[in-house]
Amino acid sequence: MPKAKTAYVCSDCGAEYPMWQGQCEACGAWNTLSAFVVQPAKAAAAGGARNAGYAGRTDAPRVQPLAAVAGEIEARHLVRIGELDRVLGGGLVEGSVVLVGGDPGIGKSTLLLQALAALGERLPGLYVSGEESLAQIAARGHRLGLLLDPIKALAETCVERILEQAVLEKPRVLAVDSIQTLWTETLPAAPGTVSQVRESAARLVRFAKETGTCVFLVGHVTKEGGIAGPRVLEHMVDAVLYFEGETGSRFRVLRAFKNRFGAVNELGVFAMGDKGLREVPNPSAIFLSAHAQPTAGSAVMVTREGTRPLLVEVQALVDQSSLGNPRRVALGLEQNRLAMLLAVLHRHGNAAVYDQDVFVNVVGGIRVQETAADLPVLLAVLSSFRDKPLPEKTVAFGEVGLSGEIRPVPNGEERLKEAAQHGFRRAIVPKANAPKKSSRIGELEVIAVERLREAIDAAFAAN
Ligand code: TYD
Ligand code: MG
Repeated sequence: MPKAKTAYVCSDCGAEYPMWQGQCEACGAWNTLSAFVVQPAKAAAAGGARNAGYAGRTDAPRVQPLAAVAGEIEARHLVRIGELDRVLGGGLVEGSVVLVGGDPGIGKSTLLLQALAALGERLPGLYVSGEESLAQIAARGHRLGLLLDPIKALAETCVERILEQAVLEKPRVLAVDSIQTLWTETLPAAPGTVSQVRESAARLVRFAKETGTCVFLVGHVTKEGGIAGPRVLEHMVDAVLYFEGETGSRFRVLRAFKNRFGAVNELGVFAMGDKGLREVPNPSAIFLSAHAQPTAGSAVMVTREGTRPLLVEVQALVDQSSLGNPRRVALGLEQNRLAMLLAVLHRHGNAAVYDQDVFVNVVGGIRVQETAADLPVLLAVLSSFRDKPLPEKTVAFGEVGLSGEIRPVPNGEERLKEAAQHGFRRAIVPKANAPKKSSRIGELEVIAVERLREAIDAAFAAN
């Protein structure tokens, strides 16, 4: 029998090496390589023999003209939790594997239990837990007032035994909580190690594809933001949903990080209460903090993550630094982008913030990844720096270029409509995003700008 080989896999990016080394060459991370036992495939006895074997097989895949292949439209089932369906891309696809990641305690187990209950008789579910006892899960279900009748549960961590039960029970949806607790008999490594997580997930993916069962995998997230265990999990599954939220806030955002069956960055918003997760179907207003008066250091933007525009508040605090190397801290935004924006502000906005500590935060614990946040971030920073609030009912969005130009962003009109609908009066936007015919949308006055300087003048002109 061929011997098992050992490979070394980076837990951040999934790159593989034949020998251990201190730094991953692919992503530059240090100390992330760990041993992974590669089982030799049974058929891999000898390359020549394998090829010969294929030629004699009658069921071997054949090359076909792609046009002659009948395309299949994937079968979808609505979970009937609207925000979850939205993030899944319009319901759960048969045979798909969905990884739900998030910090411990964010509500992953609650979400899956509620999803299985909502699917009910239509798609009977099997909830496999390696973390909680069945009594704990049942107690939660009863407390939330869920209809538990169609749901079966199993407390087990060995993949082989889980699959044995799944083959017997034939659930249409299998929820595994969590992938980090699973282990397979074929590997000697301990549960939670890279090789166990990867191999266990591979088994479940194969099961999903062979039987058409929908599989939900829960994954814990490391401090660095990756799903613990190898990033390779993200390549193996059909969709990766991250559950995010601020500590202390009851709002939770489910974000599609990858989705083979829908838009990425689609957001679903939930509120965690004593009856579990409740949908927030019209979430725009929750990401604005309620200021009684205009406050310095705050700017409202219209972001469009996924397919829905959202009003989001950006807050900045700029303060004289006592350090030689002032701090730049961005929460909910990209750190490097903030450094770049501050340089542009210095050069093209005539604001000397190089000796200031700058802290920027997106209200509500949501993460804004698009460049439309550039302009509102700079306006918030400038407003704090000058200690001058932006005028009331003002929104802004736009990408800021290195030479101080304001660049357009996608779906400008839709963003403006959202702002108008929520009672905003002025919008400072890239020229190409302003409506051609009129400078108003309802009550909303649209101010089109081409350069950062113009945007700053427009924003602070009224006070
Ligand atoms: P849980 O789903 O166990 O999180 P995860 O599986 O991601 O670790 O959720 C646990 C948290 O949610 C816990 O801090 C309590 C809170 N919670 C509520 O506030 N209300 C509820 O109805 C439930 C079920 C949980
Ligand atoms: Mg849990």
